[in-house]
Amino acid sequence: MSLQFDILTIFPGMFPGVVGESILGRAREKGLYDVHLTDLRDFAHDRHRSIDDRPYGGGPGMVFKPEPVFEAVESVLGRRRADPERTRRLILTPEGKRLEQEHVRDLARAEWIILLCGHYEGFDERIFLGLDFERVSIGDYVLSGGEIPALVILDAVVRLLPGALGHPESSLQESFEDGTLDHPQYTRPPVFRGMAVPEVLLSGNHAEIAEWRRREALRRTHERREGSPGARPPQLEGSTAKSLEIESF
Ligand code: ADE
Repeated sequence: MSLQFDILTIFPGMFPGVVGESILGRAREKGLYDVHLTDLRDFAHDRHRSIDDRPYGGGPGMVFKPEPVFEAVESVLGRRRADPERTRRLILTPEGKRLEQEHVRDLARAEWIILLCGHYEGFDERIFLGLDFERVSIGDYVLSGGEIPALVILDAVVRLLPGALGHPESSLQESFEDGTLDHPQYTRPPVFRGMAVPEVLLSGNHAEIAEWRRREALRRTHERREGSPGARPPQLEGSTAKSLEIESF
């Protein structure tokens, strides 16, 4: 069964371009997933279609009002029957839990993912209290809204769906799938502007190539994710073989 995304936003125009291109475009054509957009302004209560208001207690910025958001979410929930175990509701906010590949893998098992995108200074807290949504952040920086984070989630999830990538093993061999960053890649020519492809990759010796790739992946993870040389990547804790590798750098 294909994965259904429902995206609630005040900027539905931000999505069709990204969803129509590349892997996302092809996967949608193949029927692996679909996206339904809901314009939160359609649920506004006034003729200006306003969905935000000034914060109680003062301060800068505007806050998403609860009424249009509750009504939009209720309308989306009423449109579809799905296994509650395989339904995920996410609010995109910098205050959320930081997205990691493990979370993305879990989302790729869902049958329905509802993404609620905010803007301005945030959501009225009753939206979190009254609607059962997980708060998700795509990183510790602030974007102007939840639309780009929603697209990040969509892209990360869809490429894991069976049939989305040309080569079924591609998603298993890349960064984070085994807790490490990906190893370096080279293609022709063998020497480019004085920079040569490592000898081992031209050797045809598959065992040595696999070993080189594993070491390079560990080295990168160690250097780029763990800070000081000699530190042990926390995601590899408990793995004796891998920690020995790292100590031998
Ligand atoms: N909205 C604004 N910034 C965000 C972030 N970093 N993650 C998720 N939603 C956001």
